[in-house]
Amino acid sequence: MQEQQDALIAKYIESHAGSQKLHEQAARLFAANGATHSARVMEPFRPYITHAKGSRKWDVDGNEYIDYVMGHGTLILGHSHPVIVKALEEQIARGTLYGDNHELEVEWATLIQRMMPVAERVEFCTCGQEANMMGIWLSRVFTGRKKVLRFVDNFHGWGEEVVRKDLPGVFAENVDEIPFNDVEAVAKALATRQYAILMTEGGGAHMAGQVPIWDELLYALPELTRESGTVWLMDEVVTGFRDAPGGWQSVKGVKPDLTTVGKCVGGGLPIGALLGGADIMEALSPQAASDRRISHSGTWNANAAVASAGVAACKLFLDGAPQEAARARGTQLREMGNEALKSRGIKGRLYGRTIIHPYFGPIDFEPADVSMPPTRDSKKITDPTFGPVRDRLVLHMLCRGVSILTAIGSAYLIMSAAHSEEDVEQAVEQFASSLDAMLAEGSIPDALLGG
Ligand SMILES: Cc1ncc(COP(=O)(O)O)c(C=O)c1O
Repeated sequence: MQEQQDALIAKYIESHAGSQKLHEQAARLFAANGATHSARVMEPFRPYITHAKGSRKWDVDGNEYIDYVMGHGTLILGHSHPVIVKALEEQIARGTLYGDNHELEVEWATLIQRMMPVAERVEFCTCGQEANMMGIWLSRVFTGRKKVLRFVDNFHGWGEEVVRKDLPGVFAENVDEIPFNDVEAVAKALATRQYAILMTEGGGAHMAGQVPIWDELLYALPELTRESGTVWLMDEVVTGFRDAPGGWQSVKGVKPDLTTVGKCVGGGLPIGALLGGADIMEALSPQAASDRRISHSGTWNANAAVASAGVAACKLFLDGAPQEAARARGTQLREMGNEALKSRGIKGRLYGRTIIHPYFGPIDFEPADVSMPPTRDSKKITDPTFGPVRDRLVLHMLCRGVSILTAIGSAYLIMSAAHSEEDVEQAVEQFASSLDAMLAEGSIPDALLGG
């Protein structure tokens, strides 16, 4: 088995010689084994990309990929959508950063407000994490409380107050993490009335819900947070403008006090925004009382280049067509991919909506909602035992021209409106061929066979 596994790595290196050369240089520059994002760390290395268009991207060795990374979930319109390119080209010639107010920021916020009613006020930042930090600060001013309540596994960025508390160098004594999907635990914590803010990821933990938030918890949160005087922030950095023009909150019919968006709303350029009630955002006003006033700097806030792409993207989101197209391709991938798993007797499922999560592990039940995983046990979903299976699958798929987003032991296939039915058929063909190769080389453990 080991020899065959090494043969795969050898084949990958052979067909990625240019990438290997760049990786060697990068390893001397970037401490994370040459990678510039934790999700780009991979053994032996990820390909070095030269260009991308629609659903495809190409690397320095001329390899072509159907891209299911889609800019970490940003590119629901696909790479270099002509409308975005045109808007950017025109804007760059007119200036990228005025350091002053401009019409595009007003148009952009108006479009956002129209799609997401939570946005009585809009505060533009540079990325999703920054918007979350602003949400924490504003909720502290609004409530007069210090503490932050978060769920284990939910991701909100890498800053001190949002990153996992058990990591070295993190001293977030005002942050408490509680188990996810445990209604009793959250009710008990909130009843202490010491929390300024409760943060949840739209859809659930990890890229729109690898570990989903279950309805019992979701629908308990509006009342629990209101009763305890805690601000509820729904982080829709991934799900905003991806699940629907109104975000995941519109799909589920809930309205948090604050929402953060990012990724899709910038049309492929760096962005984050905090959306929320005028009462909470009032602290940003120069008219607020001096003991309740904060100010927000940020060189790149709503810069004209990003705003031009954001406006162009938001106009395309208004009728929900890109979201619908991405969802249709997600359904197709899920259905065809699950046939490939079932026909090979491999215990696992593909689930999700526009981001498809490959799960390997026991099937506890067949969910009525097929976008959900076949278990409610988050430990099974994130079981590190099966991480190497996902990693191996990703390498097999790369060798077959399909690029998937990875993050230590997890994998995500991110759909866009640019993916065609043929793109999905081709990806499933390569998925099936990768599974066959993995069965042959013995890289699927016995525990996952006989399903
Ligand atoms: C749910 C969620 N929140 C926040 C962030 C951080 O966003 P950014 O990388 O734009 O700072 C991410 C990034 O992937 C995310 O998935």
